[in-house]
Amino acid sequence: MSKSDDDSLRPATKLVQGGRRPEWTGDPRLGGGVVNPPVWRASTILYDNIADLKARGHATHDQLYYGRRGTPTVWALADALTELEPGAEGTLLYPSGVAANSAGMLALLAPGDHLLMVDSAYEPTRAFCNGLLKRYGVETTFYDPLVGGAIAELIRPETKLIFLESPGSLTFEVQDIPAIVAAARSRGVLTMLDNTWATPLLFPALAHGVDVTMMSLTKYVGGHSDAMMGSLTATRAVWPKLRSAAYQLGQAVSPDDCALMLRGLRTLDVRMARHGASALAVAEWLAARGEVGRVLHPALAGDPGHEIWARDFSGASGLFGFTLKGSDEAGRTRFIEALSHFGIGFSWGGYESLVVPSNPADIRTATFWTDPDPLVRLSIGLEDPADLIADLARGFAAMAG
Ligand SMILES: Cc1ncc(COP(=O)(O)O)c(C=O)c1O
Repeated sequence: MSKSDDDSLRPATKLVQGGRRPEWTGDPRLGGGVVNPPVWRASTILYDNIADLKARGHATHDQLYYGRRGTPTVWALADALTELEPGAEGTLLYPSGVAANSAGMLALLAPGDHLLMVDSAYEPTRAFCNGLLKRYGVETTFYDPLVGGAIAELIRPETKLIFLESPGSLTFEVQDIPAIVAAARSRGVLTMLDNTWATPLLFPALAHGVDVTMMSLTKYVGGHSDAMMGSLTATRAVWPKLRSAAYQLGQAVSPDDCALMLRGLRTLDVRMARHGASALAVAEWLAARGEVGRVLHPALAGDPGHEIWARDFSGASGLFGFTLKGSDEAGRTRFIEALSHFGIGFSWGGYESLVVPSNPADIRTATFWTDPDPLVRLSIGLEDPADLIADLARGFAAMAG
């Protein structure tokens, strides 16, 4: 038990205390403890004798058994993430966000099952449905992210899982998660959410009735663009199935990377507040510019998802999009390449701002992206937003030629 197991604690305090169990941070023989769970690197675990070896063959999650089952550095991160999600039984860690998503769907679906996948999902999530899952006999229907309670009409007897991602990748539609969860529950269907954008700080998914919540820790939890990892956090009912599948799939994470993730986690609350405030300031500035068609940011009052976002989320993170009114591919390229504070690169959630061109029309199948204006995605970092705004103004000047 670490101090953050206390459910009365607020999330920022849990972030500081999570996973710091005394048995992992202190050794009475040394007369004291350290602040952070040290990096325990291990493949082999040594047993005292044969009786000990036999006894630990049925090890619990947090008893040293074999390197792949983790060490205290790994458990500290898993515990800290579990403690952030009221209603969670445990957290499993994977080498990337994509690995976590794929492992979760593999664990919960079997040949002959039907999956409802949100049409605005991250593209590799779609690719998994159309690739391996299809090969293994799981049928996917992609659904409108704005379907809300009408998802009930898409549920079939063989539907076993509804996958959500909110706001959607690239297009930032906000899903009515409570309505979808209610429809799923009434038919005995499980729900799984990619919660990378909000993290449990802005949307505690399990408390909203979701069964499994996934994060690409690569993004905001790591926060420094130097490590990759993914997590699945689940309710008690789903946990045994996920853990058993994880053991069979055998994906293990490095304790060094867990230490980096734990370091990021401690400052997540302050970073998210800064990312959110700066992104909103930039989004408001963009919305007032003549060069901009639409700004896709749910915290803006006029955004189509604003009402549901304001009802369900306690804040916004730093990722959003906007269109360049009447521009074209060449104009978008001139705009992006003129920026000096925004690196051109995928991923997001790090301390540094990023920009990428995005083309959602290429990947949708249930709903369609028909806006002819080119779309740009920004990940707003921890720089002073005034410098970012000045940079974007330079980009617009370059775009005009
Ligand atoms: C919404 C979302 N989910 C999952 C992932 C995959 O995470 P990872 O890069 O850690 O595999 C990403 C990566 O960009 C993402 O944007």
